[in-house]
Amino acid sequence: MKIAIACDHGGFPLKQELAELIKSLGHEVIDLGAHQYDKVDDYPDFARYMGQAIQHGQADRGVLLCGSGVGASVAANKLTGVRAAVCHDTYSAHQGVEHDAMNVLCMGARIVGVEVANELVRAFLGAKFSGEERHERRLEKVKGMEAGG
Ligand code: RB5
Repeated sequence: MKIAIACDHGGFPLKQELAELIKSLGHEVIDLGAHQYDKVDDYPDFARYMGQAIQHGQADRGVLLCGSGVGASVAANKLTGVRAAVCHDTYSAHQGVEHDAMNVLCMGARIVGVEVANELVRAFLGAKFSGEERHERRLEKVKGMEAGG
């Protein structure tokens, strides 16, 4: 898969290592920045780059990092077609894809260390949407809400 990765300064300590992990798992990495540590950068900017990469089909899924994962997920979910969630446990990281078609995994580099983050990324990328009728039905309802219905 094509996997975008992005972070603000809060997520910066995890980005490079996770990019290497994603490559080692056989995926293509699209690095949307930050390309250097900048303590005054803003997570919505990177959430926007991530969302646009998903919307334009440049990435199949994304890994988005900030300090807590919260701001990144709040901002990314404002973009149509993005289903982002903070997952700091492996069950959510795969179940979010299997049931909810989550396409952006958000994590906080102030919350999880690199080893836990590696396991979360493996769980996220190893999962597929189940396609079960009940999950399709729920996804359609979410899409309807997104469309203003
Ligand atoms: C940045 O200092 C921090 O507020 C941001 O990375 C993130 O944690 C927001 O949710």
